[in-house]
Amino acid sequence: MSEAHNEHESLIKTPKQLIAAVIAGFLVPIVIIVLLVNYVGNNALTGAGSSAMTEKAVAERIAPVATVEVKDANAPRVYQTGEQLYKAVCAACHAAGTAGAPKVGSADWAPRIAQGYDEMLKIALAGKGAMPARGGTSPDDVTDYEIGRAIVYMANASGGKLQEPAEPAQPASGAAAAAPASGADAGSAAAAAAAMASLKTAAPAAAGAGGNLEAGKKLYDTVCMACHASGVMNAPKFGDKAAWAPRIATGIDTLHNAAIKGLNAMPPKGGAANASDDDVKAAVDYMVSAAK
Ligand code: HEC
Ligand code: HEC
Repeated sequence: MSEAHNEHESLIKTPKQLIAAVIAGFLVPIVIIVLLVNYVGNNALTGAGSSAMTEKAVAERIAPVATVEVKDANAPRVYQTGEQLYKAVCAACHAAGTAGAPKVGSADWAPRIAQGYDEMLKIALAGKGAMPARGGTSPDDVTDYEIGRAIVYMANASGGKLQEPAEPAQPASGAAAAAPASGADAGSAAAAAAAMASLKTAAPAAAGAGGNLEAGKKLYDTVCMACHASGVMNAPKFGDKAAWAPRIATGIDTLHNAAIKGLNAMPPKGGAANASDDDVKAAVDYMVSAAK
C-alpha cells in the first residue's frame, strides 16, 4: 500500500509526460547556453549600430603603424617653457639623479654651471655618457631653444643664476629664410621651418634650367635631410653607399618616381607638396651623386 502510494507521487505518469520531460531536459540547458553566449559576446557584435563599424573605430583599426606628420611651417611656433620640458622629459633622470645624472636642486650642478651655459648646452645637445643627445628628444619636436630653457630651469633650481636664452625669431611667412640663422644652433629648427616656408613660395622658381645639383642640394638641405641625414624610419642615409646601391640599381627613373609619389614611410616629395617635380628629381640626383 505504501509503495503504491509512492508511485503515485511521481510527476511522470504517462509516456507523453516522459517524452516532454526528456525534451525539456535537453532544451533548457541549450537555451541557457545560447543566452549566455549572446550575453558574453554582445560587445563583439559587428552589425549596424554597434560601435565596431563606426568611422573612428575603423580608421583606428586600419591606421598605418607609423604616421608622418608634416607640420605647417607657417604656423607660429609655441615653445615649451624650461619647466614644462624638464617635467616632460629631463626629470626622468635629473629629478632623482638616475644613471649619474646631476640631480636638480643638488650641488651636482655647481661644477657644470661653472663651465658655463654654452658648454652645458653643447653637451645636452650632443649627449655625453648616459645622457642621451637632447635628452632623447627629436629636433623636430623640441628645439635647441627649448633644451636651453630646460637647462636654465634645472641650473637655476640648483643654485645657478642663468639668463633665459633668447627666443629665436619666428619665421616671417616665407620671407626671410636666413633670419634665424643669426641664432646659430639655437634656431636650427626654426631655420628649417623658415626655409620650408620660403621653399613653399620660392621653390618652383628655383628649378631654373630644369633640375640641377644646386637646386637639388637646396631642397635636400631644407626638406629631405630631415629623414635622410640620419636615416629616420630607415630612410637610406645620405652618402651611405651600401644603403643606396640596391636602390640606384633600380634605375634613376624609379627613384625620381618614388621621391615624387612617395614610398611607404617616405611621403610624396618628402612632404614639400609645393616643390616642383624638377626640384625633387634634382634632390634625388644630388643624393644619388653623393652615394656613388
Ligand atoms: C636617460 C637619462 C637622462 C635624461 C632623460 C636627460 N638627462 Fe641630462 N644627463 C644625464 C646624465 C647621466 C648626465 C651626466 C653625464 C655625464 O656627465 O657623464 C646628464 C647631464 C646633463 C647636463 C650636464 C652637462 C654637463 O655640463 O656636464 C645637462 C645640461 C643636461 N643633462 C641636460 C638635460 C636636459 C635639458 C634634458 C631634457 C631635455 C636631459 N638632460 C635629460 C641623463 C639624462
Ligand atoms: C619623413 C621622412 C622622409 C623625408 C622628409 C624624405 N624621405 Fe626619402 N625616404 C624616406 C624613407 C623612409 C625611405 C625608404 C622607403 C622605403 O624603401 O620603404 C625613403 C626613400 C627615398 C628614396 C629611394 C626610393 C627608392 O625607390 O628606393 C629616394 C630617392 C628618396 N627617398 C628621396 C627623397 C627626397 C628627394 C626627399 C626630399 C624632397 C626625401 N626623400 C625626403 C623618408 C623620407
